[in-house]
Amino acid sequence: MDHFSIRDGILHAEDVPLPAIAEAVGTPVYVYSRATIERHARVFRDALSELDAPHIAFAVKANPNLAFLKVLQREGYGADVVSGGELSRALAAGMAPRDIVFSGVGKTRAELEYGLDEDIGQFNLESTEEAVELAGIAAGRGMAAPCALRVNPDVDAGTHDKISTGKADNKFGVPIGNAPEIYARLATLPGLAMRGVAVHIGSQLSSLEPLETAFGKVGMLVAELRKAGLTVSHVDLGGGLGVPYKPGDNPPSPAEYGAMVHRVTRDWDVTLTFEPGRVIAGNAGILLTRVIRVKSGLRHPFLVVDAAMNDLARPAMYGAWHTFEGVAPTGDRMIANIVGPICETGDTFAMARECDDLEAGELAVFRTAGAYGATMASSYNSRGFVAEVMVDGNRFATVADRIGASDIMDAERVPEWLA
Ligand code: LLP
Repeated sequence: MDHFSIRDGILHAEDVPLPAIAEAVGTPVYVYSRATIERHARVFRDALSELDAPHIAFAVKANPNLAFLKVLQREGYGADVVSGGELSRALAAGMAPRDIVFSGVGKTRAELEYGLDEDIGQFNLESTEEAVELAGIAAGRGMAAPCALRVNPDVDAGTHDKISTGKADNKFGVPIGNAPEIYARLATLPGLAMRGVAVHIGSQLSSLEPLETAFGKVGMLVAELRKAGLTVSHVDLGGGLGVPYKPGDNPPSPAEYGAMVHRVTRDWDVTLTFEPGRVIAGNAGILLTRVIRVKSGLRHPFLVVDAAMNDLARPAMYGAWHTFEGVAPTGDRMIANIVGPICETGDTFAMARECDDLEAGELAVFRTAGAYGATMASSYNSRGFVAEVMVDGNRFATVADRIGASDIMDAERVPEWLA
């Protein structure tokens, strides 16, 4: 459930009519609803209430905006970060270092050092090579870094190939079959405090089955490690729960997910960590856009909107569906190709889509844009980066300024020898 709804014929974010935001901040603009973020955070937490003190670390990659993170920090969430940049954002949002998990297959030496400097809660190690490097740095400081070993369970998550992470030939984690040997070795390194294992098989999962299979394998691994005399006090089950993008989508609910986790992990006797991203952020944001022009087409008209693939990359990258709605719908419908202004055919949000009948100058939204939206933007075609706004009841604030083409050009130089 989200807080974007039609009132008096106009789409509102909570109590704010979207035209008011377009007028104040311009378009395109991402709009987030604080009440929706909070609601999703609570629903997810409540779904895990059967578990013993689980730790929830929001996957910052889904939406790293500082205000967005602040809402989650106030909800008691920690953070799952995958770069020094994300770590600094989580800290700036006030998240406690011990509530931060550092994932990622390519943490640099500087990033490992940064994590140690800040005394973060857990490093999720993705390889022996990374583990040995971290151990060396930590031992040199007289520290023992709290670590989990990320395992690759070789499970097909049944999602888009580009966001699947748990198949044997994906780059993530160590093969689960090799984990006992690797874990035993890492447990001997003085710079590491091996405390558990981590798994994440992919994103936008539409079924619990692959998750349950993966968790089952992790459970067997935990038993095997303990049998070998190794300590396992923590297991990180990653993120991945899908959200509805289009009518008819019916992903498992957080409650169903929580019940499955409870059933599968009941005898593990560990502290569980979760890394939800999309399920918290996805439906808490929309991308507000204006129709530039309605261009006639051979079969269907082209609705050319002022948002483009550089602002919302998911349709171009994954063929993803984002529901498109008019801000002041009349009930009249049309079939249109919805495209952005960028000069490549990939800049297409939808072909032959039935949608509200719109004319040039009218406002519309792409729904479910709160996760992997603004954060995946580029400045392609020198379009800059769009602004982000957060609504809270009847007030709203710009939580990220628009970065114009000229701001970006200001960072560029023509060397003297070309002048
Ligand atoms: N933990 C790890 C280690 C991850 O790699 C990810 C997502 C998550 C947690 C959060 O997963 P979620 O709960 O959001 O499914 N850009 C793509 C999604 C990429 C997801 C990458 N990893 C998209 O727009 O669909």
